[in-house]
Amino acid sequence: MKHTPLIGLTALALATTALTASAEEYRMGLITPPPHQWTVTANEAADEIREKTDGRVDILVFPSGQLGNEAQMLQQLQTGAMDFAFFTLGEFANRDPNYGIFLAPYIVDDVAGARELLKGDTAQELLDGMADFGLVGLGWGMAGMRMIVTADKVEKAEDLQGLKIRTIPFKPELAFWEHVGAAPTPMPLPALYDAFANGQVDGMQIDVEGTWNSKYYDHAQSVIISDHMMFPMAAIASGRKWAGMSEEDRKVVSDVFAEQLDDLVAGYAEIDADYREKLEGTDVTVTEVGRDWFGSSIDDWYAEWREKAPMLKQLEDEAEGL
Ligand code: BEZ
Repeated sequence: MKHTPLIGLTALALATTALTASAEEYRMGLITPPPHQWTVTANEAADEIREKTDGRVDILVFPSGQLGNEAQMLQQLQTGAMDFAFFTLGEFANRDPNYGIFLAPYIVDDVAGARELLKGDTAQELLDGMADFGLVGLGWGMAGMRMIVTADKVEKAEDLQGLKIRTIPFKPELAFWEHVGAAPTPMPLPALYDAFANGQVDGMQIDVEGTWNSKYYDHAQSVIISDHMMFPMAAIASGRKWAGMSEEDRKVVSDVFAEQLDDLVAGYAEIDADYREKLEGTDVTVTEVGRDWFGSSIDDWYAEWREKAPMLKQLEDEAEGL
C-alpha cells in the first residue's frame, strides 16, 4: 500500500482550505456602463489587487448600477453589505455642501488643473471627512470636464432658458442650471438615453466620453464644449469592511487605487480630446464656449455657494495658486 499520495492529497487539501479561508470576495459597485473609463479602471484595479494580494482580496466589479443607485449603495457600504465603490459626489454634497465645491464653475480651466486640485489639501481634507459617512476615502478620480448636449440648436446661453436639462441629483449642479435659467431635471445615467430620445428632457449636462459611447448625439442638434465644471469621482471603501482587512492588504488596495486613479484623471485630457474629435466628425454642430458665454450666472452661483459651503473659499485660493 502506498501512503505517500494520501499524505500528498491531505496536504493539498489542507493547503487549499487555508487558501480559501484567507481569500475573500469583495463587491464593488458603480453606476457607469462597462465601456466607461471608470469601469475599465475599476476592473484593472481589481485585477492588480487580486494579483498583488495572491488572491486574498478578490474584488468583483458590478457596473451600470447593478447593486443599486448611489443612495442605495451608500447604505450598503455603511452596513458592510458591499465593500468598494466609485461615486459621483451627489450623495456627499447633498448631506454636506462642502462636497459640492469641486463643481464650482470654471474653478479650473482643464483636466490638468483638475488633477492638481484633486491632489491638494482641500481634496485630502474632504477625503478624510468621509469617515463621518462610515467610509474610507481611497482617492479622487474624475470623468473629464462637463459639457452640454441639446436636442434643438443652441447658439447662446439665452437659448437654454426654460429648457429641461438633465443633471444628476446634485445640489450644486441644480443651482448652476437654475442660475442659467434652465429647468434642471435630475435623472440617473441609465435612464438618460431613452429620456432624451423621447423628449422627456431637452438636453443634458454630461461628459464627452458618455456622449460618444452612449450615442446621445444621435438625437442632438448642438454639442457645446463648455468645459464648465470638473466632474470628480470618489473611490471609497466601507469603513466596516476596511477595519476587517489586514494592514498589508489595505496598503496594497490603497496604493493600487492611488496609482490607477491618478492615471485615470491624467488620461482624461486625451479622452476628452479624442471623443470631441469623434463628435466633430458627426453631423451635429459642435461649438466651444467659455465662462463669458454664461453671463452673470456664474458669479451668481459663486455668491450662493460661498455662503453655503465655507470650504469653497479655501478651494478658490488653492486654485488661484495653481
Ligand atoms: C453622469 O451621471 O452624468 C455621469 C456619472 C458618472 C460618470 C460620468 C457621468
